[in-house]
Amino acid sequence: MRSFLIFSLLFLFCLAVSPETPKSRKKKGPQLLPIQRTSHSRSETKFLLYSNTIEEGCLIEFNQFDTLEKCRFNASLPLVMIVHGWSVDGRLEGWIWKLAEALKSQLTQTNVIITDWLALAHAHYPIAVQNTRDVGQEIARFLEWLEESVQFSRGNAHLIGYSLGAHVSGFAGSYIRGARKIGRITGLDPAGPLFEGMSPTDRLSPDDADFVDAIHTFTQQQMGLSVGIKQPVAHFDFYPNGGTFQPGCHIMHVYNHIVQYGITGLAQTVKCAHERSVHLFIDSLWHNNQHIKGYWCKDMQTFDKGRCLSCRAKRCNILGYHIRKERVPGSRRLFLKTRAQMPFKGWYEQMRREQEIAALSPGKPRQATSICAYTTCEFRCVSE
Ligand SMILES: *[C@@H]1O[C@H](CO)[C@@H](O)[C@H](O)[C@H]1NC(C)=O
Repeated sequence: MRSFLIFSLLFLFCLAVSPETPKSRKKKGPQLLPIQRTSHSRSETKFLLYSNTIEEGCLIEFNQFDTLEKCRFNASLPLVMIVHGWSVDGRLEGWIWKLAEALKSQLTQTNVIITDWLALAHAHYPIAVQNTRDVGQEIARFLEWLEESVQFSRGNAHLIGYSLGAHVSGFAGSYIRGARKIGRITGLDPAGPLFEGMSPTDRLSPDDADFVDAIHTFTQQQMGLSVGIKQPVAHFDFYPNGGTFQPGCHIMHVYNHIVQYGITGLAQTVKCAHERSVHLFIDSLWHNNQHIKGYWCKDMQTFDKGRCLSCRAKRCNILGYHIRKERVPGSRRLFLKTRAQMPFKGWYEQMRREQEIAALSPGKPRQATSICAYTTCEFRCVSE
């Protein structure tokens, strides 16, 4: 429990530093854009085109056409943009490269850009929160520029934002001009503090792209705050293991990490459940033949009773990159359970509730219980 305390204290400390909240800031809206446009011909945000061969990625400079050519940006291919979150040490975190590598290896015909907004993310949390709008706007202008200069289509853009980066992506989606939207935004454990309970225009929301999905992994509340946002912010909101906390991130593992890695192990562990969202997404790329499904359900208690394990009438969807991109009215909460490490997929073992489930899906032939393929399967589950 101590790790949550430390993390929450960190947030509280930062909240105390600046009294300003998103409410007191300017409302976003197209009326602001012309001013922004004339005042910025450069961008604070760096766009690094990732390739497995270049160490740090190739810098594409906003409004510098030659850098697109130099970096060999191929406008006819889809674009995935990775957007990081709040930064404590001013450096790009390790997961960014892991995600970029997974994307590039699994989707060979894709541009992968790492959006580096460290200059504005390495600040007290509330300041970084304020900066999310400006960075979102810079990304929007960057995409507009790609459209104008190389006929890239915004519908081919997929923004993947972690923590604060999820809201940055949302702002990018709402600031982009014109009737058409960005293709897809994925929010990986979107940040909670200063966003929870805010209006849809002040955070990531389903309006920000043609399709929005989110994975919530660390919504456990401590002293009134949770690191990840609890409320749904997408068309499909996945809550693995209920979304509050994740298996393998418990205090016993904290001690193991510290023994293994010293004090940096502590930071790793504090972020464990938060960052799990990223690793679940990476897992969906590497193990694309083992789709993990989430099931539409009221809450985790109901899910645990085995009442929601049905895919009838599109009541389930696939976690991660290969999600079925269908628009649903509003947001849907999907629940699932995972293992404690990669590959995260486990099998639901059919137990006493067999009849209950059979009653809920009468047409479905009952399958054997022996598909509990992983010996470490810790939970009861049902054949899919
Ligand atoms: C861009 O990608 C398309 C589709 O894969 C390919 O046909 C084309 O040759 C590529 N262009 C360049 C300049 O590499």
